[in-house]
Amino acid sequence: MDALKHIAIIMDGNGRWAKKQGKIRTFGHNAGAKKVIEVTKRVSQLGIKYLSLYAFSTENWKREKSEVDFLMKLLSKFLKKELKTLMENNIKFRIIGDLSKFSKSLQNVINNTIEKTKNNSGMTQILAINYGSRDEIIRAVNSIEKETITQKDLENALDTKDFCDVDMLIRTGGEKRLSNFLLWQSAYAELFFTKTLWPDFSLEELDHIIMNFKQRERRYGGI
Ligand code: FPP
Repeated sequence: MDALKHIAIIMDGNGRWAKKQGKIRTFGHNAGAKKVIEVTKRVSQLGIKYLSLYAFSTENWKREKSEVDFLMKLLSKFLKKELKTLMENNIKFRIIGDLSKFSKSLQNVINNTIEKTKNNSGMTQILAINYGSRDEIIRAVNSIEKETITQKDLENALDTKDFCDVDMLIRTGGEKRLSNFLLWQSAYAELFFTKTLWPDFSLEELDHIIMNFKQRERRYGGI
């Protein structure tokens, strides 16, 4: 059985979940944020080292301004509230993505959460915000001052340089695509797609997916 050290999740379906109940999309994002806390606690209790969550992509700026503004406020509120959970569960908080586009106040909340949790030694929760793999790779390449670069050089320049590759990638919400999430890091990840909308994603389903992962044989191109 392969070790499961890093789970990545594309949390899709908040908008549809809200619509199904006749509510506005932002209602779904609130429910989605609650689910983040529930899943984070479970993954940390399972002794898994890294949990990466796609919270806002470089492409999400194309959404209605009101939704983008809501997501920014939610993120800030979420982080202030989540700090207690992170400390109680010995979880370190990190982000990947280009922070420079965010407001100074949001950057402060983010940096404060990173700082306060930096000595926690359990799981690391990695939030991907203003993140896109292509953007990350280009930023990395441009930061390397070498004529010829190796895979290691690139890996050491990625936002994920302190973490290991993704072992399992889950996407909720029914679509079967990676949407520019951790493309380099998921080269050998086992992929799981579920129709369940993110706010409905249960810990039972997570356990079931993990059980399924343990039965897969990963050969990394070998035999
Ligand atoms: C996809 O749902 C969700 C996102 C835009 C990103 C995920 C956001 C959350 C889980 C909530 C906030 C999280 C944090 C950490 C504060 P969608 O709107 O694309 O749903 P749809 O496909 O049904 O429209």
